[in-house]
Amino acid sequence: MSTVHIGAEKGDIAPRVLMPGDPNRAHYIAQKYFENPRLVNKVRGELAYTGTYKGVEITVFSSGMGIPSMGIYSYELFNDFDVEKIIRIGTAGSYLEDLKIYDILLADSSYSESTFDKQSGKDEMDIINSSTELNGDITNTALMRGVPLKVGRVHTSDAFYNEETIEDYKKYTDMGCMAVEMETFALLYNAKKLMKKATSLITISDNLVTHELIDSEARERKLDEMIVLALESIIK
Ligand code: HPA
Repeated sequence: MSTVHIGAEKGDIAPRVLMPGDPNRAHYIAQKYFENPRLVNKVRGELAYTGTYKGVEITVFSSGMGIPSMGIYSYELFNDFDVEKIIRIGTAGSYLEDLKIYDILLADSSYSESTFDKQSGKDEMDIINSSTELNGDITNTALMRGVPLKVGRVHTSDAFYNEETIEDYKKYTDMGCMAVEMETFALLYNAKKLMKKATSLITISDNLVTHELIDSEARERKLDEMIVLALESIIK
């Protein structure tokens, strides 16, 4: 039973899903961390693998970039494949001087000016909360593993390239946003609508105030720390 965008059978997708944006990262996670990974989707180059981690079945599925892409995949996963929990694992740009590159941010909510909510359903919303249960599991796991975690709101933007300056970021920080990325709002919207659980774990890849950027070697290492935190939390 494939859907419009996912070429898998229902039993090929686990109830617990991790979603990086990048298909290559889905492949990397499956090869490095899964026992017996198998490719379960390659439609449009979005790769999904299902395997087990410490004996628990998990699927890693790339979301692609932006609200529309995350909106399509998370909807079909929740609605058609009976997925129960999704943790997005991604990167974001920091709006705050003291939220530094390499820091790991757990999204407690997303703010967006996107019209995704209006176009998807009847409820209009600017801010959507993450699953408190999933966030509790992630916070406890981080404490146990000694992984420092910041918790706060992300801004989900539709434009990566824009003419905004540091002065413009105030309108987002005034809304409580700590960092900007492009997918979380759609994921949390679909989870809320379909009564499922979702959240986002974010590594800060660039600081928009200080213009620091993480280098590729450190990016790999720090992303691994976040990936293991997500794996250990989603099997709870
Ligand atoms: N903007 C939007 N998305 C991002 C950024 C950014 O600066 N950095 C990482 N993802």
